[in-house]
Amino acid sequence: MHASPSPEQLREWDRRIVWHAFTQMAEYEPFIIERARGCTLVDLDGNEYLDGVSSLWCNVHGHRHPRLDEAIRRQLDRVAHVTSLGASNPTTITLAHRLVGLAPVGLEHVFFSDDGATALEVAVKMALQYWRQRDEPRPGKTGYIALENAYHGDTLGSVSVGGVARFHAMFEPLLFDVFRVPAPDTYRPPPGMSAETLLADSLARLENVLKEHHDQIAAMVIEPLVQGAAGMLMHPPGYLSGVRELTRRFDVLLIADEVAVGMGRTGKMFACEHEAVSPDFLCLAKGLTGGYLPLAATLVTETIWQAFLGDYAEGKTFFHGHTYGGNPLGAAVALATLDVFEEEQTIVEMGPKIDRLAEHLARLDELPHVGHVRQRGLIGAVELVRDKTTKEPYPWPEKRGIAVCNHALTEGVWLRPLGNVLVVMPPLSITLDELDRIAGAVERGIVATTA
Ligand SMILES: Cc1ncc(COP(=O)(O)O)c(C=O)c1O
Repeated sequence: MHASPSPEQLREWDRRIVWHAFTQMAEYEPFIIERARGCTLVDLDGNEYLDGVSSLWCNVHGHRHPRLDEAIRRQLDRVAHVTSLGASNPTTITLAHRLVGLAPVGLEHVFFSDDGATALEVAVKMALQYWRQRDEPRPGKTGYIALENAYHGDTLGSVSVGGVARFHAMFEPLLFDVFRVPAPDTYRPPPGMSAETLLADSLARLENVLKEHHDQIAAMVIEPLVQGAAGMLMHPPGYLSGVRELTRRFDVLLIADEVAVGMGRTGKMFACEHEAVSPDFLCLAKGLTGGYLPLAATLVTETIWQAFLGDYAEGKTFFHGHTYGGNPLGAAVALATLDVFEEEQTIVEMGPKIDRLAEHLARLDELPHVGHVRQRGLIGAVELVRDKTTKEPYPWPEKRGIAVCNHALTEGVWLRPLGNVLVVMPPLSITLDELDRIAGAVERGIVATTA
């Protein structure tokens, strides 16, 4: 047995050996969470922090929820892992059945993988293969439409349909081309558009691309309602349903990436429900397991499924899989997550929290360097600007967002910004009191660092 490392040793190893995601390791200051309960994280020294971003947008019912913990323990007593390659287990089958019952109408089959990016890879590859082997094949449909500033994960297919220059430009030589349409950003409308014309102009731009290229396009990929990593950029109402109408009219499949916005986050179980949209593919991850374990799902329609059926020799099989896709421990905690949604009436209970967040954002909007506040359900964003009138941004190397979050940390609130955008995205189980503490820390952080 090795002796347990001391806190100092852990910090030293963490700085020197562990390579953290999206982190400049030359500047990294260890932030080591040793345990957690509810919405509170506890570090090695016993300091407590509210989890203001749901451990990166995935925690739903809080940490160490007894129902979720128990579900994993019970599954451990049966089996920890069964492959999904030609085999199955009762827990994963039950989860698939449950998801189909909850998802927008028409989504009837579930392909499991393990992360948001893989859920997208699956959808992107299936869309292409669908057009090649359906009854009336259209092998020319190999292209994709995606929005500017989209983020769909960090594997190469997901990066190809993504469009956040700062993350993705480096990998340009490895990516496939996509047809890009402007993101209908309500704060910074694309060139030539105004707040008033944003919806109609954005849909017209999409329609033009579809008119000209639909023969080459397999699918359009979209983050419904909110483009997360772009800075919680929010679309005007009607855009998603407009996209669905146009993609249907031009015979292009629609891939809804609900990795960040699904599982109750926007105030409905799935963001697509806000505009009564049924996509051809629905991608879920993050909150699917309540933020406990890596598990992802790509839900598809009967039409897609049918195109992959045939004799083995026909070669219609979907040759794609991940070792831990559909892992029963993940499925067990996903089922428990859905149970807790029902038992605790999570979505109904979110109402007053959404209202309280709106009140806080309205107050923050008055601050001199807050250019814009925006909200969808329990996603709140506060965009800092150098000049409120001209919307001139702070240069990103100034790390304004990080400065506010560092301040919040001193008040026991853990947040992670997106450049100049502060994100408030706590577990759905957050209390009003905890929400007040998070908003207060953000407010004092902004005042202290932008004075
Ligand atoms: C909309 C969206 N899609 C996909 C992903 C990728 O998910 P993962 O990090 O689990 O691969 C993310 C992650 O933030 C996301 O926000």
